[in-house]
Amino acid sequence: MTQPRNKVVIFLGPPGAGKGTQAERLAREQGLTKISTGEILRDHVSRGTELGQQVRPILDAGQLVPDDILIALIRDRLAGMEPVRVIFDGFPRTCAQAEALDMLLEELGAPVTAVPLLEVPDELLIERIVERGRQAALLGEPVRSDDTEEVARRRQEVYREQTQPLIDYYAARGHLRHVDGVGTMDEVYGRIQQTMR
Ligand code: AP5
Repeated sequence: MTQPRNKVVIFLGPPGAGKGTQAERLAREQGLTKISTGEILRDHVSRGTELGQQVRPILDAGQLVPDDILIALIRDRLAGMEPVRVIFDGFPRTCAQAEALDMLLEELGAPVTAVPLLEVPDELLIERIVERGRQAALLGEPVRSDDTEEVARRRQEVYREQTQPLIDYYAARGHLRHVDGVGTMDEVYGRIQQTMR
């Protein structure tokens, strides 16, 4: 069977669910461009750009950056992309972002292909995030300012309030794929592949 030219995968799931990890591998193996809004924002912060200075306190606090900033970033990334072969990691995170993305994709003639939702219990999520911060500190690598237990719990609350409604949004459109996110990274990757067959 020939591969569809356009492919748009959106990883949904709470902080620490494994979106970035799994999106990286899927992008590599399927020749897709990964668009990680958290990485893009952290890069601006580390380079001290105007945008970085503006969003830094928001990231530190575990809150969401305003929709208009994110939508403009994504519009730029998608501009002129042909074919559209992307994985979104961390976007959209609000209904306004999802609606804006739908409009951008419609303009490009590239509908959403699938939305894997990585499901992991809350306490395991906190453990993963705190452990990532601990490991980075041990190795002398940069520690994410939001990888503390306190900020991770706030990120979970923000996810529940502002991002969880997207589960219904994508379920209603037939795109949602539930994926058990507990297990080894290989096991989770295998489950994601199963849901996309
Ligand atoms: P973002 O960078 O998107 O962070 P997040 O969603 O909170 O997600 P994480 O990166 O913590 O987790 P993940 O699900 O990607 O898991 P990962 O693979 O890293 O956003 C950061 C901030 O930017 C936001 O708080 C907000 O301020 C801002 N922002 C970003 N996008 C925005 C948007 N659209 N709108 C507004 N604001 C936005 O894995 C986590 C850890 O677990 C890693 O150490 C990993 O090695 C480990 N791990 C992964 N899988 C497994 C496994 N199967 N078993 C054991 N360990 C595992």
